[in-house]
Amino acid sequence: MLFLLPALLALSAVDAAGITDVVIFGDSFSDQSRLYSLINGTYPGKNYQSVYPPDAIAGDGGFQWPYYLGLYGNYTIWNYAVGGAVCSEALTPLDGIPDVTSGQPAWFIEDHMVSDNKTGEQTLLLDPDSFTVIVFIGTNDVGMSSFISNDQLANVSLPDIADCQLNAIRNMHSLGARHFILNALTPLHLTKLYSNSSEPTFYWPKEHDGEAWNKGMYNIVHSVNRILSDGVKVLNAEWQGDGEVEWFDTYALFEEFYYNPTPYFNGSIPADTNEPCHQCPVDSSQACVDCPLEERDSHMLWDDLHPGEQTGRNLAMEMHKKIGGQSAY
Ligand SMILES: *[C@@H]1O[C@H](CO)[C@@H](O)[C@H](O)[C@H]1NC(C)=O
Ligand SMILES: *[C@@H]1O[C@H](CO)[C@@H](O)[C@H](O)[C@H]1NC(C)=O
Ligand SMILES: *[C@@H]1O[C@H](CO)[C@@H](O)[C@H](O)[C@H]1NC(C)=O
Ligand SMILES: *[C@@H]1O[C@H](CO)[C@@H](O)[C@H](O)[C@H]1NC(C)=O
Ligand SMILES: *[C@@H]1O[C@H](CO)[C@@H](O)[C@H](O)[C@H]1NC(C)=O
Ligand SMILES: *[C@@H]1O[C@H](CO)[C@@H](O)[C@H](O)[C@H]1NC(C)=O
Repeated sequence: MLFLLPALLALSAVDAAGITDVVIFGDSFSDQSRLYSLINGTYPGKNYQSVYPPDAIAGDGGFQWPYYLGLYGNYTIWNYAVGGAVCSEALTPLDGIPDVTSGQPAWFIEDHMVSDNKTGEQTLLLDPDSFTVIVFIGTNDVGMSSFISNDQLANVSLPDIADCQLNAIRNMHSLGARHFILNALTPLHLTKLYSNSSEPTFYWPKEHDGEAWNKGMYNIVHSVNRILSDGVKVLNAEWQGDGEVEWFDTYALFEEFYYNPTPYFNGSIPADTNEPCHQCPVDSSQACVDCPLEERDSHMLWDDLHPGEQTGRNLAMEMHKKIGGQSAY
């Protein structure tokens, strides 16, 4: 028991340098209920904060990492992520979900900016040094029905979707935000959906070339991450100290969870980084089966694609350290 103490102290001692609020743009890896609200027919309005409606299910089957980040760092979380979102629906059209370049920042503007009736000039209501903006997007942009299944538009390339993320950050900078964290794409080739198997899955109930998907995903994710991490340096140079963006290596962090899982997964069975808790048959008319509740926190994955809740707690802990300048990722 005693050896746990220093770790807990270290976590609470993270100095978030005046950061009280965290703004998040993204997809189902972060969404807590905006997609649910959209499907429900209630377009999320000003100051929408619903975290976990009793009848809703988030992408991880429970509370998502932004909720835990708020707990661990006592931050107010402005989570604009929506399941199914991409960086830009104009580049990689998918489901018409509010995206990171327009629909999601429109919510930020509604919540945090006032516009002068005469001049139209917009003013940010938040102190720029009190909040950080996290961009965590790309899984859908590169995935099925897009690049991996060769369904992307003929005139769109991987650099376009990386530039889209960098431009989303530029846009938020022009609105007055000054602190940013850009998350790497995760090692998607390690998920069941993008594994080496050619068998149909719940999300892609067709035969496909598993080896091509698996190797293709590895290549795509590495390429996009390389462009993004180089882009972080470009943005910082552009701003010349008037704002800063940091690279958060979610790729390396998820690899650590995958290859060295024991310290991170604490359900009632040994850590399992391959099999999801929530297993859905290819035939979607049949019911999904969940692992027993006490085993959930042993699974890295909730389903064939989405990280589980315990992966999210671990991500939140590391992100809290990142905000405090104490993360190795
Ligand atoms: C879903 O719709 C009901 C009825 O319109 C509404 O009361 C509820 O707040 C909605 N839930 C969400 C999460 O938007
Ligand atoms: C948590 O944040 C709130 C609002 O910023 C602040 O009033 C409160 O003192 C903080 N609590 C702790 C334990 O730091
Ligand atoms: C600006 O316009 C809005 C909406 O028309 C109105 O509610 C508000 O009172 C106006 N503000 C000022 C300062 O005139
Ligand atoms: C790409 O092509 C689509 C139509 O296929 C067009 O609507 C879109 O504007 C083009 N995008 C660019 C960046 O040229
Ligand atoms: C992927 O599958 C192919 C064909 O089934 C097989 O030859 C190859 O060894 C597999 N690669 C890995 C990394 O498992
Ligand atoms: C696993 O650890 C987390 C903290 O990381 C804790 O919140 C959770 O309750 C634990 N799960 C189990 C099953 O003990």
